[in-house]
Amino acid sequence: MKPIQIITGDITTIHADAIVNAANTSLLGGGGVDGAIHRAAGPALLEECRTLGGCATGQAKATGAYRLPCRHVIHTPGPIWRGGTAGEDRLLADCYRNCLACAASLGCQTVAFPSISTGAYRFPLDRAARIALQAIRDGLRVYPAITCVTIVCFDARTCAAYEQALAEVERAHA
Ligand code: APR
Repeated sequence: MKPIQIITGDITTIHADAIVNAANTSLLGGGGVDGAIHRAAGPALLEECRTLGGCATGQAKATGAYRLPCRHVIHTPGPIWRGGTAGEDRLLADCYRNCLACAASLGCQTVAFPSISTGAYRFPLDRAARIALQAIRDGLRVYPAITCVTIVCFDARTCAAYEQALAEVERAHA
């Protein structure tokens, strides 16, 4: 299994140890992948989320997965794109770093991410993909117990952007 793989699909069907939810700071659900994860997990997920007291942008909090085929859901609010001068790049990298740290603390070997912040939060896709891949690559060195990270893209355009970013990151470190 490759340490980083990019697929097109629905993250709610992924049998990873942990899947990551692109949440908002309330952690009380929403649309997009947040809505899909809550719909698939069932109401118990929201009940647990209510006990967490929200989550700051860039941070990560884990819950159970309930009816989902994974063991944990790691919720992280990505940054809303505001033009690139409000620390968005660092906050997006923090999302990936903190989710991997959380996954490692839970003993996860496999983790699946959606494309954080590139939907409703309007983060430019190519820029987000490069930040994500660099942070994931760095994280895999810090947490060797994590053997595979999958980026689950919901459409072909997103998949192409992450494949391009992976090629760039691998070339830069060849
Ligand atoms: N599986 C994988 N990826 C998905 C799925 C799914 N089932 N559904 C949507 N996506 C993709 C979107 O196509 C996009 O590429 O997830 C990516 C992130 O988009 P959003 O879900 O809109 O997340 P984000 O841009 O981080 O905005 C978060 O939207 O849903 C609300 O509560 C959420 O307020 C928060 C905001």
